[in-house]
Amino acid sequence: MIITVIGPGAIGCLLAAYLTRAGEEVSLLDYRPKRATLLQDRGIAVTGEREAFHTPIKATAYLTEISSTDIFILCVKASDTAVVAAKLRDAIPPESHLLTLQNGLGNIEKLSEFFGGNRILAGATSHGATLLEVGRVRHAGYGEIWLGQANGTDSSQAGGALLQNLATTMNRAGLQAQVVDDIQPILWSKLVVNVGINALTAILGVPNGELLKIPTCQTVLDGAVAEAVQVASGCGIQLQLPEEIERVRAVCNSTAANISSMLQDVKRQKKTEIDQINGAVVRMAASLGMASPVNEVLTALVRGLEAGYKVEGGKP
Ligand code: PAF
Repeated sequence: MIITVIGPGAIGCLLAAYLTRAGEEVSLLDYRPKRATLLQDRGIAVTGEREAFHTPIKATAYLTEISSTDIFILCVKASDTAVVAAKLRDAIPPESHLLTLQNGLGNIEKLSEFFGGNRILAGATSHGATLLEVGRVRHAGYGEIWLGQANGTDSSQAGGALLQNLATTMNRAGLQAQVVDDIQPILWSKLVVNVGINALTAILGVPNGELLKIPTCQTVLDGAVAEAVQVASGCGIQLQLPEEIERVRAVCNSTAANISSMLQDVKRQKKTEIDQINGAVVRMAASLGMASPVNEVLTALVRGLEAGYKVEGGKP
């Protein structure tokens, strides 16, 4: 398969490395030319509990250098989706599909505005990855990938075939992927995981597994998750408590050594995805006339961390 991964963050590098190693034709698109050159020069090194490997990678900042692509996989931060989509709108061929494999709510809607809904595919992953430095990634939690058509039953045949092909390709690469009929409940479940883990780890500065060791964290995690589950229900997605809380704890466990993507952002003084995760729950709760006090506090605290960034250009 010919695949372009957009965004050389932890998940982007992880996917690009596994797929390239499996013999797929993969390009990694990075909007920063110097970093793309560095990636191209040094390749990607993956370390994990099960194995460590290094693979050369084709990285570029220019879409014109990528000949043809079966599927574009968007792995940029949710806060950058609109900017990236605007940049790529005219460069991505009209017959190409885009798969969002990002955290947070709103990515499908934003991409649909730029590319039209029937070209958009959506996925979620429970793999935990930490970017150690450019092109160096730790596979800190072995998880799965779920893929589906963003618009469910209005799905295009071409998109469906592409997803099946991608799932087979990802499985061959060792990434554990499956296609599901309805991706929406999975996207909400992933949101619930991020709601429970990301802000708390970013505020406390701890790896995911530590949340299970601090008893007072459990109350906050449970409260944030319960609010997200209520909002999901208000949006027609039925998730169950206490199962969702148990699932979030299981992800803390399976990604215990991982530094969550939000904590990675805070450490690098980068804008976080708080507005697309806990902030999205707060906004949607308000629109449904529901209260979301735990997510409000978590959102305010992470915004406080962002406001305290010292480096130039690091401010949100
Ligand atoms: O955003 C993240 O860090 C990841 O989605 C997850 C699964 C919470 C693991 O750290």
